[in-house]
Amino acid sequence: MARSDLEALELRLLLDAVYQHYGYDFRGYARTSLKRRIWRRIMEEGLETVSGLQERILHDPDVFERLLVDFSINVTSMFRDPTFFSAVRDKVVPVLKTYPFVRIWIAGCSTGEETYSLAIVLREEGLADRTRIYATDINGEVLRRSKEGVFPVERMKDYTRDYLKAGGRESFSDYYKTYGDVVRFDPTLVDNVVFAQHNLVSDSSFNEFNLIVCRNVMIYFDRALQDKVHELFYESLVRFGILALGHKETIRFTGHADDYAELDSHEKLYRRLA
Ligand SMILES: C[S@@+](CC[C@H](N)C(=O)[O-])C[C@H]1O[C@@H](n2cnc3c(N)ncnc32)[C@H](O)[C@@H]1O
Repeated sequence: MARSDLEALELRLLLDAVYQHYGYDFRGYARTSLKRRIWRRIMEEGLETVSGLQERILHDPDVFERLLVDFSINVTSMFRDPTFFSAVRDKVVPVLKTYPFVRIWIAGCSTGEETYSLAIVLREEGLADRTRIYATDINGEVLRRSKEGVFPVERMKDYTRDYLKAGGRESFSDYYKTYGDVVRFDPTLVDNVVFAQHNLVSDSSFNEFNLIVCRNVMIYFDRALQDKVHELFYESLVRFGILALGHKETIRFTGHADDYAELDSHEKLYRRLA
């Protein structure tokens, strides 16, 4: 068997082992980036083969936790792609205002920057009191950090700039207090936020939402897995509910392409038809 075939076989076995033992399904994640992350873990654990890593993962949950962190790339920032948040103000908020009570799902919320950004927009638009946000992620560690709302002070310059670009109306520094080299965001911003662990691949729908935000998560998934998650989102949206994807993502070419109308093609905002 050629070396690359052997590696492909070992990778398949590793991902199967992870799924069967820990219940996390990474079998449909894009292979090239998975492979890079797995090899990094092999090196860092002082191992030599994918099978060697499989053995360690099955017998040592700490090694699995480290692999999980490697897999779930958590890069995020506040008001990421500021034009997205101005589109939320201009095009999504007016729709949400037509509901007496609003439920929002932020899927793949990472360390919380996106959740605090949206909470700030909702507060400024007068919607915060009648909105509940469910912010979920596969990774328990990032959720713990989301709840704290503590971010490095050195990021505030960029975040202030992006907050203003996103149409922010207040003084951004009023939303946080500084403690040395970190800031803590006003905890009341997340009074109406439920942070919970949820795996988009294996967990089912848990509510009906007026808006689902899932940005920069499915870029790591292959087509079959993306279709599966789109099925979950379709099921979880109310009729005429809004789906927001990341700038590099699209509903086109998925099994549900025809079930949405474009609300803003650049900002990847879609509205569920009937
Ligand atoms: C790049 S971050 C995106 C964060 C944020 N949405 C943004 O756009 O800034 C991707 C997040 O997706 C999460 N994720 C990856 N696979 C997931 C899955 N199967 N279910 C739920 N979350 C997942 C990761 O843990 C990570 O926090």
